Amino acid sequence: MIIATTVAEVREHVQSWKMNGLSIGLVPTMGFLHEGHASLMERATRECDRVVVSIFVNPIQFGPTEDLESYPRDFESDSALCAEKGVALVFHPEATEMYAPDFCTYVDMDRVTKTLCGASRPTHFRGVCTVVSKLINITKPDRSYFGQKDAQQLAVVRRMVRDLDMDVEIIGCPIVRETDGLAKSSRNTYLRPEERIAALVLSRALGAGRQMVAEGGRDSNEILSVMRSVIDTEPLARIDYVEIVDGVSMQPIESVNTGTLIAMAVYIGRTRLIDNFIVGE
Ligand code: PAF
Repeated sequence: MIIATTVAEVREHVQSWKMNGLSIGLVPTMGFLHEGHASLMERATRECDRVVVSIFVNPIQFGPTEDLESYPRDFESDSALCAEKGVALVFHPEATEMYAPDFCTYVDMDRVTKTLCGASRPTHFRGVCTVVSKLINITKPDRSYFGQKDAQQLAVVRRMVRDLDMDVEIIGCPIVRETDGLAKSSRNTYLRPEERIAALVLSRALGAGRQMVAEGGRDSNEILSVMRSVIDTEPLARIDYVEIVDGVSMQPIESVNTGTLIAMAVYIGRTRLIDNFIVGE
């Protein structure tokens, strides 16, 4: 497995793969890899001749008060997992390789980025769109793989690729959960033991919403009010948002249909966790 730290090195390998007619899959990550990332790599290695995993904690998608400095990192264990999954190249650049001191070009998006996580993290998706565009330009993938846990990120990336005519197929992959229901996330490591238990309130609230829909419930306000009341039973939990939105536009809708996204961000202590489900999936 190749470990590349510069754009030039990645380009050299990508160019030779392309010349040999090999397809390329990109799995963009911020490292501290878990089974959710592993599932993206497994799918990518099944579908592409060469898989590139980027491991880069992207500073421009963190707000000034967010956890950039403390974001967990473990490159040794990440690269071992990549090697085990048959990844061809890990791209692990320094921030200075990705962002020149006079860097001033950003990819920004209206509407789809303004609700849900974008409402509480106003510069987040500008950072995500910019880095994902750069990674796509650097690695020229045929396909790129994203987890459904970051449902809004997936919708935003799909929209960016469509709007900017990027020649890459975006593949969304299902949420991977712990056996007790907590969605896998690098940020789960922040949770103290009592918070880890409290965090199960997210999947409980989603379960309550899912059940209402399964029983024929369609009214967004009614479903949201039940879900919020489940979360309110947990003293360590504080709601950032619980919303029901169109699965493509990310705009709130009054009535639930197939493809509707039911999503939440909840603080457990100081840790902000997200989770969601799509109606009909
Ligand atoms: O989902 C993530 O880990 C990040 O937002 C991504 C897509 C790697 C961009 O930094």
